[in-house]
This record gives sequence, structure tokens and C-alpha cells, in this order.
Amino acid sequence: SRRYPRYTREEVGRHRSPQDRVWVTHGTDVFDVTDFVELHPGGAEKLLLAAGGALEPFWALYAVHNQPHVLELLREFKVGELSPDEAPPDPAAAQDPFAGDPPRHPGLRVSSRKPFNAETPAELLAERFLTPNELFFTRNHLPVPAVDPGSYRLRVEGPGGRVLSLSLSELRSRFPKHEVTATLQCAGNRRSEMSRVRPVKGLPWDIGAIGTARWGGARLRDVLLHAGFGEERAGEWHVCFEGLDADPGGAPYGASIPYGRAVSPGADVLLAYEMNGEELPRDHGFPVRVVVPGVVGARSVKWLGRVAVSAAESPSHWQQNDYKGFSPCVDWDSVDYSAAPAIQELPVQSAITHPRPGAAVPPGELTVKGYAWSGGGRDVVRVDVSLDGGRSWRVARWVEGERAALGRAWAWKLWELRAPVAAGTEVEIVCKAV
Ligand code: HEM
Ligand code: MTE
Repeated sequence: SRRYPRYTREEVGRHRSPQDRVWVTHGTDVFDVTDFVELHPGGAEKLLLAAGGALEPFWALYAVHNQPHVLELLREFKVGELSPDEAPPDPAAAQDPFAGDPPRHPGLRVSSRKPFNAETPAELLAERFLTPNELFFTRNHLPVPAVDPGSYRLRVEGPGGRVLSLSLSELRSRFPKHEVTATLQCAGNRRSEMSRVRPVKGLPWDIGAIGTARWGGARLRDVLLHAGFGEERAGEWHVCFEGLDADPGGAPYGASIPYGRAVSPGADVLLAYEMNGEELPRDHGFPVRVVVPGVVGARSVKWLGRVAVSAAESPSHWQQNDYKGFSPCVDWDSVDYSAAPAIQELPVQSAITHPRPGAAVPPGELTVKGYAWSGGGRDVVRVDVSLDGGRSWRVARWVEGERAALGRAWAWKLWELRAPVAAGTEVEIVCKAV
């Protein structure tokens, strides 16, 4: 058999574009697939997501590659093999608070590694109604805590100082499992678009800090009633959550929601232990997280350690001094966080996932795709699309969505519009959800 040159993963990683050649690995083999990029039946943009790295995590998402003829085709492009001794363990990793973070899918678009923040690439976002767990956006403020599911206890502080301590198996067995399909969106989703109007501080999210999953778990309502709380509480009360992730000073991530939402059967607030039929991944809150449908992602506390009912909102930094909205005349020197309420329900919006800005207009027919969603369980009834910057409009058709009960439309809808375009024209596509 032929002897091939050896490469490290780092060397393979330098070949990520047709200009630098497109290399990928499969097993310990290295391939130069530059000449195949434009011929790929799944599209050049999808293949390029794996450029410079391993194919396996992507092919795991697309079983179509699980056929002998695909491997045969790949073999023609073999140019080398991975060095047997590459990627030795990093001795500095031991002191790194993020060293225990879980492995991540290389297809995620990373905006910060420590803490880990990453979004679903726009090219994959609206491919599926349910976002695959490994491509679901991750928003972490702190290192991912290592939680042992056997000794895990959820502390629920009941009325009159009584404390309920629930193991994972008690949470699973004592309360009926309830399933909800809900979209989670970070308040900062699409911030990079805002920054094009005027620079704003924060992670430069594109349109992918949003995703939809089928969440399974106990209703928060059932747990609160079991702990001794009633359906009503006179006055304004809040249910406060604390995560098991903490900053170097020991302060945990925390957030709260109004009591009425927490106990309302129609609000579907979950203490979730499942995501798309699997146990929660570590990045998404293993073993238990809150899911508050229709509400900004910041309140869906991951790695949930403590639930308490209080006359005041969560004292956490993220409830008090972050995740609030202000007038454009307020800046970082003049902001008074106490002057604005904490964001809860998010407003209606829609985004274009295909084509991407700057893409060439194909001759004949143009296909525009995207998602639409509203917070608060309000159903999106229509998406309008304009190809001329808003002068004239067409109505998009629904590709996927779920029929939801009134006021409980927790999941996004995917839409599409096909329209004839003249070759060589410049189109400005805008969309609007109602
Ligand atoms: C389809 C090869 C990378 C997504 C296919 C097919 C082949 C192929 C031969 C057609 C299979 C059939 O219908 O029998 C390859 C090779 C790759 C590569 C050689 C790398 C060098 C990727 C990556 C992704 C991807 C990284 C996703 C991120 C897809 C999709 C289809 C497809 C979605 C189905 C297209 C359709 O339904 O028409 N690929 N692929 N591929 N590939 Fe890939
Ligand atoms: N919970 C804990 N304990 N720690 C966190 O950093 N981030 C919040 C929320 N819950 C966070 C958390 C924010 S701002 C968002 S948008 C969602 O988790 C993101 O959830 P995901 O990472 O599962 O997509």
C-alpha cells in the first residue's frame, strides 16, 4: 500500500477555504476535497462547515453519508494521514476553570470560548423544526459545573421554612412528565445586525442564538404545589432560581419569573430533564434546567440547584443589572439599571436564514427561507417578504410549524418564499412577521 505524508490536526485546520485548499479528516485519513466542493450534492456551503476538521460530527447529522459509495468517493481525495502522536494533553489545562467543559460540535459558530458561547450557523438553523441538541446555541456565563446525577438534589424552599429536597429520580417519578415544544432565544440574538446601525456592547450574535427543542420534565407548578404553595399569592411574588454554576466569588447564576407564570397550568413552565428525547446535554443544564416558554432565555436557569419564592425578584446580577432594555439615548455611562424592568416576554420577529447577505442571485427563481417566532405564546399568523426593500410584499408559505393552543404558541415556525427574479438584478430582501 501507498505511504502517505503525516499531518497534525493543526496543519489540517489551515485548509478551510478553496483559496487555502479544503481539507477534511475521516478517521485518521486526511483528504483534500477542494475539487469536490462545488459538486457536493448537499451544497458547497454545507461541506465548508467541516473544512479544516473532522467529517464525522457532521455526517452524524446527515445519515445520507452512511453509504459505501460515499466513502469510495472520499477515498479518491486522500492526501495524507494524521500523525499518530499529535495533540498531546495540555499540562496547563489543569488550572483552567473551563478545563472541565464538555466537548462541543465543531459546526457551532463560536463567539467566546471561555465561557463558551456559540450559535447554530444560519445555513443549518432552519433545516429542521427541532434543532439538534449538538447544534443548539449555547449561552454560558460561567464554567459548566460537573454535576453527579446520583448525588444531585434540587432544593425547593417551601412556605414556613420547610425545605423539599428532590433527587433526580424523585423528580422523575413523583411528578408526571410533561412535554413542551418551545423555542429558546437569547436576548442578544441578532446583536451584530444592531451593531451595524450603532455599535452595542455584548457578544456579536448573528441570527442563530435561537433554537427549538422538545423539552420533557416536571411542571414547576406541580413541584411548587407539592412543596405547599397555593395557586394564588396576594401581592407581587417571584419564583427565584439558582444554578450550580458560580463565579470565583461563589455567586451562582440566578434569575426569577413572576409567581403567576410559575403556577399557571397554561404557562407550561418546566423543570426539564430531557431535550429532544435525550437527557439534557451538559451545556444545556444537565441534569435539570428551568424552561420558561415564551420568555427570554436568561430566565431558563440551567444546572438548577435551588428554587425559592420571594417578595423580590432574584438578587442576581443577571436579573438586576443585565437583560434589561433602554432608550437609545442611554449609554454605558448614564445607564441606571434599577430604572427598567427585567425582560420577560420577548416580542415578535422573523429572520432570513437563506440566502445569506451578499449571496449571488441565481437565475430564474429565488428561494428565501427563514424562521418566525413571538414570545408570550402569541401565534405568528403571517410572514411577509419583500424583494425590493419593502416597497412591495408577498406572503410566505409555512414549511413547518405546530398547531398550538391559543396563547401557547411556544415554538417558532419555518417559512419559505419562491419568487421569479431577473438575472443580474440586485435584490434587497426583508421579512416581517405578524
Ligand atoms: C449529500 C458527499 C460533507 C451535508 C451527499 C452525497 C454525497 C455527499 C455523495 C449524496 C449522497 C446520496 O444521495 O447518495 C460528501 C462528502 C463530504 C460531504 C464527500 C466531505 C468531503 C458534508 C457536510 C455536510 C453535508 C460537512 C453538512 C454539514 C449533506 C446533505 C446532503 C448530502 C444535507 C443531502 C442533500 C440532498 O438531500 O439532496 N454528500 N458530503 N455533506 N450531504 Fe454531503
Ligand atoms: N443558567 C445558568 N445556570 N447559567 C447561565 O449562564 N445562561 C442563560 C440561561 N440559563 C445561563 C443559564 C441564558 S442568558 C440563556 S440565553 C439560556 O440559558 C441559554 O440556554 P442554552 O445554552 O441551553 O441555549
